[in-house]
Amino acid sequence: MSTATTQDPEHRTVVRGIGFPALGGPATTPLGWPGPDTVSRETAQAASEAEPAPGTGRLPTPSTAQTAPGAEDRTPDGAQDDTEEREQIAAALPGAGDETPLAQAVADDARKRITLSGRSVPRPSRTRVLTVANQKGGVGKTTTTVNVAAALAQAGSSVLVIDLDPQGNASTALGIEHHAEVPSVYDVLVEGRPIAEVVQECPDVPGLTCVPATIDLAGAEIELVSLVARETRLQKAVSAFVAEREDAGERVDYVLIDCPPSLGLLTVNAFVAASEVFIPIQCEYYALEGLSQLLKNIELIRSHLNPRLHVSTILLTMYDGRTRLSAQVAEEVREHFPDQTLRASVPRSVRISEAPSHGQTVLTYDPNSSGALSYLEAAVELAERGAAAHQPTQESA
Ligand SMILES: Nc1ncnc2c1ncn2[C@@H]1O[C@H](COP(=O)(O)OP(=O)(O)O)[C@@H](O)[C@H]1O
Ligand SMILES: [Mg+2]
Repeated sequence: MSTATTQDPEHRTVVRGIGFPALGGPATTPLGWPGPDTVSRETAQAASEAEPAPGTGRLPTPSTAQTAPGAEDRTPDGAQDDTEEREQIAAALPGAGDETPLAQAVADDARKRITLSGRSVPRPSRTRVLTVANQKGGVGKTTTTVNVAAALAQAGSSVLVIDLDPQGNASTALGIEHHAEVPSVYDVLVEGRPIAEVVQECPDVPGLTCVPATIDLAGAEIELVSLVARETRLQKAVSAFVAEREDAGERVDYVLIDCPPSLGLLTVNAFVAASEVFIPIQCEYYALEGLSQLLKNIELIRSHLNPRLHVSTILLTMYDGRTRLSAQVAEEVREHFPDQTLRASVPRSVRISEAPSHGQTVLTYDPNSSGALSYLEAAVELAERGAAAHQPTQESA
């Protein structure tokens, strides 16, 4: 594969998802549209120079951006004006008219790069615990967990991923060791070991940590049955860890729990530990079929075990703009869940599916690909919605 990136960090960002220049490339794309750097270098650099406001992080700007004259003088307020300016520029790009799907995709990516680079992202006022769930397998739970987590961490938040699937796919994608001898979430659930003793740092993304899953976890479902307080074991461990970090002055902003595709005791533990459910929905024909069952189960957990639990976020994944079916599924989901469904959706992308085999998220594997940009966009939206919902007036859970 001639375009594959290497593990060498210096070469990781060389490859572009669909082959067009990203920031730092020529001024126009091959299709003749203004490249992002013709309009955004100055603004992106200015935004990165400005100090983030307290309680916010900032997405990195591509290192290829040149220094803009006067960028040093910008203030945090200037950075906010800058966001608006960038949004205006992005809005001026050609829209989805009668161009080809590829042309639309290129314009879309350019728009995302302009609006996202250097953007400040709010950190939540308290730890948000989200369970990423869907009883269907292969819908993008793990992919969504690791990429949204990496995007939030890149935006300056402190993020913990808990891999609760015995397959350990999230651990793999984050480059975390998880062979049989590694202390893992199994030890937390079954042995009552504190999370602090098993947590590992993600090698590629500062601020991102992970509790790995090993093959032991496959037996946990059965072993948990005979244990006391079997449904609340993860919740207790997470609360203790979050409180401990908070006391140490290192608040965890997000905990994302990657669930297995079933409603066994592992998933029940995840639902009890979280207050938010984050559902990735694959834009395919059967997508909505399992959903009503999932919602019923969430309702059951809510009435018996965790009254705070609610579906806060839905993300449409594997969206294929060329098919009518994807559009129909998306339309239907948005109609049923207008408040929960993120505006951002994630396209089907080879880069997204390649990244885990390199032990990476798509955010580090190919940061300029449409998949990475979509996950960044989704993460920004998730953070902004959370900040709006968690205003001090909101009743604390
Ligand atoms: N947007 C996407 N584009 C292409 N492939 C994807 C995308 N999202 C997920 N995949 C691939 O689909 C498969 C299932 O995704 P995964 O996240 O493991 O689902 P789940 O955790 O729900 O079982 C994986 O091989 C993954 O790489
Ligand atoms: Mg999975």
